[in-house]
Amino acid sequence: MGRETALKQSRREFIIKVGVLGALIVGITAFTRNLYLFFTPSKKEKTYHKYLVGKVDEIPIGKAKEIMIQKKPVFVVHLEDEFKVFSGICTHLGCIVKWEENKSRFYCPCHKGIFDKTGKVTGGPPPRPLDEFTVEMDNNLVFVKVEDKDKSPWS
Ligand code: FES
Repeated sequence: MGRETALKQSRREFIIKVGVLGALIVGITAFTRNLYLFFTPSKKEKTYHKYLVGKVDEIPIGKAKEIMIQKKPVFVVHLEDEFKVFSGICTHLGCIVKWEENKSRFYCPCHKGIFDKTGKVTGGPPPRPLDEFTVEMDNNLVFVKVEDKDKSPWS
């Protein structure tokens, strides 16, 4: 092996080692940052939007009203002694549920999921109840609080 060949090989090894070391440093830095973000809770306070979803006397007891909030279907249900507000998105695979007034229940036509008037699963494949919003009453008005979602570093 000539001196020039040995020099070229040594230069190539040096470049490879620098490349590997650089990639290692970038990888470790990214991993450490993500580990830190994962275990450090966000210090931001949650913020909410309050939406007017109906008037007490416009929805008779036992009936539901469908509205849209942030372009998503929401059901306002007037139970015997309270109002409940549910997301209209099925917890199975995300189809839109329908309110069946004669049966006082929600029905998902995609896979025959059934939820009772309190949002609990009573049939079909949905794994959990319908998502429920926090209701606030103010005189004759029904409001819901919807959390503003920030983009997480994972999204
Ligand atoms: S998406 Fe509603 S039951 Fe499957």
